[in-house]
Amino acid sequence: MRQARARAHTNFALVKYWGKRGSALNLPAVGSISVTLAGLSTETSVTFDSAAPEDTLELNGKPASVEDTQRVSRFLDLIRGKANLTDHARVVSTNDFPTGAGLASSASGFAALALAASAAAELQLDATELSELARRGSGSAARSIFGGFVELARGQRDDGSDCVAKELAPASHWPLKVLVAVVSDAKKETGSTTGMDASRTTSPYYPAWVDTHAHDLAALRSAIADRDFALLARVTERSCMKMHAVMLATDPALVYWRGATIDCVHAVRELQKNGLPATYTIDAGPQVKVLTTAEHAAAVASRIAAVPGVLRVVESELGPAARLV
Ligand code: DP6
Repeated sequence: MRQARARAHTNFALVKYWGKRGSALNLPAVGSISVTLAGLSTETSVTFDSAAPEDTLELNGKPASVEDTQRVSRFLDLIRGKANLTDHARVVSTNDFPTGAGLASSASGFAALALAASAAAELQLDATELSELARRGSGSAARSIFGGFVELARGQRDDGSDCVAKELAPASHWPLKVLVAVVSDAKKETGSTTGMDASRTTSPYYPAWVDTHAHDLAALRSAIADRDFALLARVTERSCMKMHAVMLATDPALVYWRGATIDCVHAVRELQKNGLPATYTIDAGPQVKVLTTAEHAAAVASRIAAVPGVLRVVESELGPAARLV
C-alpha cells in the first residue's frame, strides 16, 4: 500500500477562465489570474491498494456520487499511466466549506488530489508539472498548486505542456483580505464544464470575451505588480461582468445569481462611492467574493453581512501553495 495526504486551498479568479480550446486535455480558451485563499481548503488522502477491487471516493465523510467517483477515477488513470501502476485507490477528501456552491471546490479538490495521488504513486513532479496535471482534473485546480497571486496561461501547444500555472507574486507581496458573502448553500444547477461548452457554442458574446482577454490579463498583471487597488478593482469587475454577460446570453441562459448576489454588488459600489477600497467577483454560483485591504476589512464585512439574504460572511486572506501534510 502506498499512501500520501495533501492539502490545497481554493482560489478564485480576478480575470476569469470561461471556455475551452480543447476538451480532451482540458485546455482553456483564455488565460486567468487568481488569488489562492488561506482558508477554504481541501485535505485529501490517497491510498493505492493492490487488494482494492475498484477506486472509491469518500467526500466529507460520505461515499461520493457515482459521477464524482468516476471523475476522480479518470484522473487517477492519468497518474497510473504515468507511474505504470494498476492498483486501485481509496480517496478520502474533506472540504472545510460547502461543496459545489460557487466556492470552487473542484479547484482545491483536484489540486490536493493531484499532489496526494502523484506522491502516493511515487512520481517526482515539480510544481509546474503538478499544475499541468491538476488542470486535467479542473482548469482552476492548476492555479491552486501555487499560493498568492497566480496566473494560468492559455498556452498555444496542442499537448497542453505550456498550459500551466505560475506564481505572479506571493501573498506577502500584497496581503489583501477576502470576504466571501455566502447567499446560498445549494449545489449549483449547471457545472462549469457543461456551462462553458454551452457558452462557447451559443453565446453571441463569446468571441468578444476571448478577443478582449489578453488586454485584461496585462492590466491585472500590472495592477498586482504596482499594488494599484483602483486598477485591480476595475479589471476584476469588468472581467466578472463580461463573463456573466456571456453566461446570460448563453442559450438557454446561465443565471448563477440570486437576488442577494446583485444586492452585494450594489453594496460594494456604495462602499466604493464612500472611498473604501473594495471590489467584487462572482463565479459559476451565487456567492460574492469581495477583496479589500486589511485596514478596511471590518467595515466592508459588516456592510456585506447587512445585505438581506446574505447567510454569512467567510473571512479569509491570501494563502499558501498546495503541500503534502
Ligand atoms: C467561473 O475550473 O471549474 O470559476 O476546467 O471545466 O473543471 P473545468 O472548470 P472550472 O471553471 C472555473 C470557472 C470559474 C472562473 C475561474 O475560476 O477562472
